Formats: sequence, structure tokens, C-alpha cells
Amino acid sequence: MEVILAKSAGFCFGVRRAMDKVYERVGTGEQIYMLGSIIHNEEVVKDLEKRGVKVLQSPEELLLLHEGVVVIRSHGVSKDIYKMIEEKGLTCVDATCPFVRKIHKIVEDESEKGAHIVIIGNANHPEVEGIKGWSKTPTVVIESAEEARNYEMPHNQMVCIVSQTTFNYNKFQELVEIFLKKGYDINVVNTICNATEERQKEAAEIARKVDMMIVIGGTHSSNTQKLYEICKAECANTHYIQTLEDLYLETETTKSIRCVGITAGASTPNNIIEEVQKYVRIDF
Ligand code: F3S
Repeated sequence: MEVILAKSAGFCFGVRRAMDKVYERVGTGEQIYMLGSIIHNEEVVKDLEKRGVKVLQSPEELLLLHEGVVVIRSHGVSKDIYKMIEEKGLTCVDATCPFVRKIHKIVEDESEKGAHIVIIGNANHPEVEGIKGWSKTPTVVIESAEEARNYEMPHNQMVCIVSQTTFNYNKFQELVEIFLKKGYDINVVNTICNATEERQKEAAEIARKVDMMIVIGGTHSSNTQKLYEICKAECANTHYIQTLEDLYLETETTKSIRCVGITAGASTPNNIIEEVQKYVRIDF
């Protein structure tokens, strides 16, 4: 089987950095806590749990700790959480992706100057929740064209628009256009990460050429879900899998398939991508 594997498949710079930071601490004898799963990948989280790393589900659980190391994942957290960790005397390993950290800085600075902050993204995503927590003024999160059309900006206030790093670039442009047409005075900062854009563009190009497309990633990974949507729009025969086992269940007949494309979200470990690639190349 001919296979086209996306060069941009798998861990991005920020996730690789976060993983390295956690694995560096594992085995040092300290009790390590992750504030939420380090990445949206069940296999990786299970492996870390086996090595004694505990996942904290909420800031309330953080308040119950008296010692240990708390790892902040690449999505970042609000300013309050840093304060909490410091006040509890815990050790902080900050694995916030530098690109996310940059958004925190923009939001903090712009809101300090009095700007109203608009975040284009998914309100329930932890990265967006973290970004909100750096603003000194009220924020709003906009995800759809309808929300953008219905939203009335506060009068006589500067506005600063930032984006969740993994948001779809074309959709971001569309939403910004809606705001600009309303005549608001807006400072637009495109904070979409290049890694996401490149992965999305490459995935679309590959999906256009192949008979079947495989997108690998955790079911809770927003960037993998977006990759899937993009590929599905180009290739109807697109499959979203977490592990190789899912592929056994997903595909029944492969007789008419000559070429398969593979891409993977930012939190997908290399060994899973390799496994899938090998299976498709040899056993399909
Ligand atoms: Fe960072 Fe971009 Fe990855 S923001 S976590 S390098 S997708």
C-alpha cells in the first residue's frame, strides 16, 4: 500500500517540551502532580500514572496538597493558579507552551491598558480558560459567526482580539472580518500557532490526493478534531482513530484503496504513528 505520512504529524514543539519536562522529573522520588492531563492522549497519561504521577482534576484538589511538584501543562493556566501553587509552597514545573504564554502576556498588557479582550476559540477549552485568567478586564469568548454577528462590543473601549492557538485559521479570519465590518477600533493579534496551521494545510493537501485518510489522536484533542474535519471535507473516506486497534474496527474493505494518507494531532506519540504506518503499508 502506498502511504503518505504527513511530515507535521504528531507532537508539536510545545507538547514535546512539556513531555520532556515531566519525564525529566519522573523517577526522582518526588510526588508529581499534573494539573489536568499533560496532553490529550490516554496512552501517555496511563503510562505516566503507572510511573506514579497523579492527575489533579481541579484547582480545589490543588488546595488540599501540602507538598510535591505540580506540572502546568502546555495549555497553560490562569494567573490565580500560579499564586495558589506559590502560597501552598509547592514546586512548580511550568510546561506552558511559550506560544500560549505569549497570549497571556498580550492579554495581561492590553487589559491593563483598558482594552476589552475578545478570545476567538472554544470557551470550554482549558487553554481558553487559562487565557481568560490573565485579563484585568471582562473577556468574551467567540467561536461562531453567529456569536460574532450578535455580539455588541462595549462602547468607547479599545478592543483586543486574540485567538486560541489551535483555532482554524480561515474561521478566525471570517470572525475577525465580521467584527471589522461593524466598524470597531480593534487590535487584532493572530495568535494561532504555526504548527497548527502547517499541520492543517499539509493534512488538507494529502487528503485531497488519497483514497483514504487516517487521522490519529485523542478523542478529547481539539486540534485532532479540527484536523479530522478538514480531512473529511477533502476525502469522504477519512477515519479518526486513537490507536491501531481502532483502525481494525473502522475499516472493512480496502480493496479499492491504493493510497492512504496519515496525519496525527499534536498530542500523538510517535510510536503510535509508526505502528499505524507500518500496519497500513504492510498489512492493508
Ligand atoms: Fe504550542 Fe503550538 Fe503546540 S501553541 S503546544 S507549539 S500547537
